[in-house]
Amino acid sequence: MVRADCPRQGREDGPECRLHIDPVYAPALDGIEQADRIEVLYWLHEARRDLLTQSPKANDVTRGTFSLRSPLRPNPIGSSIVKLVRRDGAVLTVRGLDCLDGTPLLDIKPVRCGYAVEAPAKPGISD
Ligand SMILES: C[S@@+](CC[C@H](N)C(=O)[O-])C[C@H]1O[C@@H](n2cnc3c(N)ncnc32)[C@H](O)[C@@H]1O
Repeated sequence: MVRADCPRQGREDGPECRLHIDPVYAPALDGIEQADRIEVLYWLHEARRDLLTQSPKANDVTRGTFSLRSPLRPNPIGSSIVKLVRRDGAVLTVRGLDCLDGTPLLDIKPVRCGYAVEAPAKPGISD
């Protein structure tokens, strides 16, 4: 998949994606099956890191990078809350990701009720 084919934000009715965890860390996944949703942190490795302001595609207004969810940022960390479909050893299948094949995985955390704030999209907060 090329960058232009990635959704701006993943959707739970999107395609299944696989997270390949180094088998050394497989024991760290024990119990993850109890989570319906997991938070995935990843390194958007092909993103520019020099933009402090930018104009999102959706409009021409220039905004500060930290006011956007753009992949272009000094430390290009992406985060998504995805649906956990299944675990096969050190491979997790999820729905709702928006990153390229080969994007380095940084961390995985279960989403617990009361921790995740589900906020509707708000005008001015751009992906
Ligand atoms: C708008 S970002 C959102 C990332 C994450 N959901 C977040 O909110 O932090 C998603 C976009 O990043 C781009 N992207 C995906 N994987 C990337 C990678 N490995 N390097 C650079 N850009 C990437 C794609 O254009 C994709 O549409």
